Amino acid sequence: MDPRAERIYTAADYVKSQLGDLRPKVGIVLGSGLGKLAESIGNPITIPYRTIPGFPVSTAIGHKGNFIVGELGGKTVIAMQGRIHYYEGYPMELVTLPIRVMKVIGIEYLFVSNAAGGVNFDYHVGDLMIIKDHINQLPNPLIGPNLDDFGPRFPDMTRPYDLKLIAKAEEIGARLGISLHKGVYYGGTGPTYETPSEYKYIRTIGGDATGMSTIPEVIVARHSDIPVFGMSVITNEAHDDYSEDYENNGDDVVKAADAAADRMCAIFTELIKSL
Ligand code: HPA
Repeated sequence: MDPRAERIYTAADYVKSQLGDLRPKVGIVLGSGLGKLAESIGNPITIPYRTIPGFPVSTAIGHKGNFIVGELGGKTVIAMQGRIHYYEGYPMELVTLPIRVMKVIGIEYLFVSNAAGGVNFDYHVGDLMIIKDHINQLPNPLIGPNLDDFGPRFPDMTRPYDLKLIAKAEEIGARLGISLHKGVYYGGTGPTYETPSEYKYIRTIGGDATGMSTIPEVIVARHSDIPVFGMSVITNEAHDDYSEDYENNGDDVVKAADAAADRMCAIFTELIKSL
């Protein structure tokens, strides 16, 4: 067997062995500062990444390293409290391993979240953005021999984010009085934040928000035809004017994400209820 597939199935077997009768329908990836959502999960089972054979461990700030399995919005969910980033030095195979594992254990939907810099001038700290599309500037995780068990060599990317879920999320936002932008997520490797000229470039090519994650996970989910819903929390506003009194700081990003986590949690929970 392909050693990558072997690693996936070995990890998935272990996770399954911890689930008892639970059959998670929705996988959730919690971004920087958004791990709080895991606290809303009822009757939780915690599976630390370090106990899973072959699993990487997240080293990023604002990221714990656990799967939390339990109930949210009346459904069984498996949430990643902390994700793995490419900038941590892990290869894409490991960055996306948790998504492959969730696919093997049978998730039917993937919800992703992240903290992102607002590049669109209308976006402000604390705003939420539904991800309608992305621009990938990270290495593509599907490079290499195709894992035929998981999906085709050349996956379609016409609708990376599920249009029905987006429409439902917009309805939920309107009903709950939570305002939502809808925009394009640009993903780079990090770990540096962007220079002023890079922020300007991202805006020019059609990005509304920028971050260092999410897209590899979405590509791997779409490879296996799993419908994806994604949301960014805007944690800082792109400064492209060389202002002297501003700098980007990871701690501020986590604080801003934390402040918006309740609203994001409400949208995710209501959306999961509707599935
Ligand atoms: N750039 C890249 N990644 C980020 C940012 C940003 O401005 N804010 C939070 N994650």
